[in-house]
Amino acid sequence: MANFSINLRKESKISEVDFDNIPFGRVFADHMFIIDYEDGEWKNGRIQPYGDLSLSPALSCMHYGQAIFEGMKAYKSPSNEILLFRPLDNHKRLNRSADRMCMPSLPEDVFMSGLELLLNIDSDWIPQKEGSSLYIRPFMIGTDDYLGVKPSSKYSFIIYFCPVGSYYNQHLRIQIEEKYVRAAAGGVGYAKAAGNYAASMYPASLVQKHGYQQLLWTDAIEHKYIEELGTSNFFALIGDTLITPQLEGTILDGITRDSVIKLAKHLGHRVEEKRFEVAELIEAAKNGSLKEAFATGTAATLAKIETIAFRGTDYNIDVESSVLAEDLANRLDAIKNGHSEDPFGWVHKVEPQAVHSY
Ligand code: COI
Repeated sequence: MANFSINLRKESKISEVDFDNIPFGRVFADHMFIIDYEDGEWKNGRIQPYGDLSLSPALSCMHYGQAIFEGMKAYKSPSNEILLFRPLDNHKRLNRSADRMCMPSLPEDVFMSGLELLLNIDSDWIPQKEGSSLYIRPFMIGTDDYLGVKPSSKYSFIIYFCPVGSYYNQHLRIQIEEKYVRAAAGGVGYAKAAGNYAASMYPASLVQKHGYQQLLWTDAIEHKYIEELGTSNFFALIGDTLITPQLEGTILDGITRDSVIKLAKHLGHRVEEKRFEVAELIEAAKNGSLKEAFATGTAATLAKIETIAFRGTDYNIDVESSVLAEDLANRLDAIKNGHSEDPFGWVHKVEPQAVHSY
């Protein structure tokens, strides 16, 4: 295992937190993990109190966008073990994003040992309340202080934690987007790159003014095929087939998306990953065969969609009868928090470690 230095806070901030009312993403655990990349190697891995970083105004990621991230969650099992959900898939995706953004790969043992050490230190921050979890945000940024456009020669990889409840606390109202574009073939749509989220904010703000939480992106060429939502992947149950857009390099290869596909197939449901036409979705909404629609993501988990707006018409879905979404969400939750068997080998138990400051 990698050897990291550890500098612990004198006093935890945990007593200040109301775990019954946690706003998403605003409460941060006591510590963070940082490791730097310089001269072609990862070095100086360390745990330190969560807090501000000191940054040069010329920091390359702030100008040219070499910034990628992941989203993961940790849970406590009924016997108090720390559980992670498919962490190696997050590590692989981080490195796929890094490749595309011309950033260095992070070795698996650095990712996992930094994460597991931090989880051991801040394990009390994993909420126990149903529907809550510890959101984990690993990210990598280019840290050269240099004004020219070139890949940074220095990087930092950082992990911090937020105890969270739900990301969306209501059913979703979404609008199909036909003007703005999130990603085109050959672009960076499959990378979990900060800029993809920046690009979605202005179009999302336009639909939010009209009472929708998110937009549903369509393809960049014809606006004919469904891609994904601003913060998550998209599924629709039409008749008895669960349909989701296929991975073609423009959408995120969501880990919750993949888990929903595998779980639904395992339960005997028919699942199709395909080029999913907006026209098929709207026709199904009109003729009543659109039974359910939902968003999937680490933060969103599985969020039911109650309204899909298209060209000025709202198509409503009876979320109270969204039994498939409900069942998949409950089963996934139960696997993640150790309340049920994990036939897929997705859950990773974090080994307890004795931690000393040095
Ligand atoms: C996640 O679901 O983990 C994401 O990274 C999406 C973000 C909107 C929170």
